[in-house]
Amino acid sequence: MAGEPLIAPGEVWLVGAGPGDPDLLTRKAERLIAGCDILFHDALVGPGVLALAPAHVVMVSVGKRSGRHSKDQRSINALMLAAARSGMKVVRLKGGDPSVFGRSAEEVEHLAAHGVTVRICPGITAASAAAASSRVSLTLRGLARRLTFVTAHARAGETLSLDWRALAAADTTLAFYMGRGSAGEIARNLIAAGRRADTPVMVAVNVSLPNERIIRGRLDALSFLVATISDDDPTLLLVGEAVGVPAGREPVQADQTISMTTTI
Ligand SMILES: C[S@@+](CC[C@H](N)C(=O)[O-])C[C@H]1O[C@@H](n2cnc3c(N)ncnc32)[C@H](O)[C@@H]1O
Repeated sequence: MAGEPLIAPGEVWLVGAGPGDPDLLTRKAERLIAGCDILFHDALVGPGVLALAPAHVVMVSVGKRSGRHSKDQRSINALMLAAARSGMKVVRLKGGDPSVFGRSAEEVEHLAAHGVTVRICPGITAASAAAASSRVSLTLRGLARRLTFVTAHARAGETLSLDWRALAAADTTLAFYMGRGSAGEIARNLIAAGRRADTPVMVAVNVSLPNERIIRGRLDALSFLVATISDDDPTLLLVGEAVGVPAGREPVQADQTISMTTTI
């Protein structure tokens, strides 16, 4: 019920912070942030969201960005467990939705194994926010019957190990998280597996934040489209026919998109 305290002492809530804009938080997330004693947050949580925490809340940054770890997962688990055991009301704030590439399962498992009650508050994932910002629909009657969230994160020196044939199906919208560094490899593999070279793509950077950028183009130009984006800017890659059809407009023709040739 709205108004009643949501967190009991010794409990942990994993809370989705959405893509960055505090107006995209759920009301429940806002109440949890206001009602906790200690808040562990990732680097991707927007400054406007963190600013909602009252002055008495202990803020702990456990974020990692571009491979630079500030705390490893074991340390994060141990810190949250210690805070819960001391009777604090704990919020673990994660960018987007905790269940989408958020390692929430590991944290829930660790805390539950030690008898701590863990609850989850969902958030708006980056793909939904990018679709809203750019006025596209991720699924589209007749064009996109499937939506696939893919992590394109590969350890340094490793190639992506993905089922490219399945991903190349023409009726699928693909949302690649953590894919900026692998953009060329993604395009090359999708085209080799049968996806059309002129498939519409969208590169969505810092979605919902004041420095948001949406870059449109076609699949064979993907590595060019990401070339000016810095390592620190969260970037989502969307691929698929639906991405080329902004709501309320006629489908974008291949010759109207940013068309670049590149060696990929
Ligand atoms: C570790 S994943 C976490 C995803 C998050 N749980 C979600 O649901 O959006 C981090 C990746 O999400 C994407 N991402 C998160 N926030 C974003 C934003 N505001 N703009 C663009 N991409 C974002 C980027 O691909 C980033 O590398």
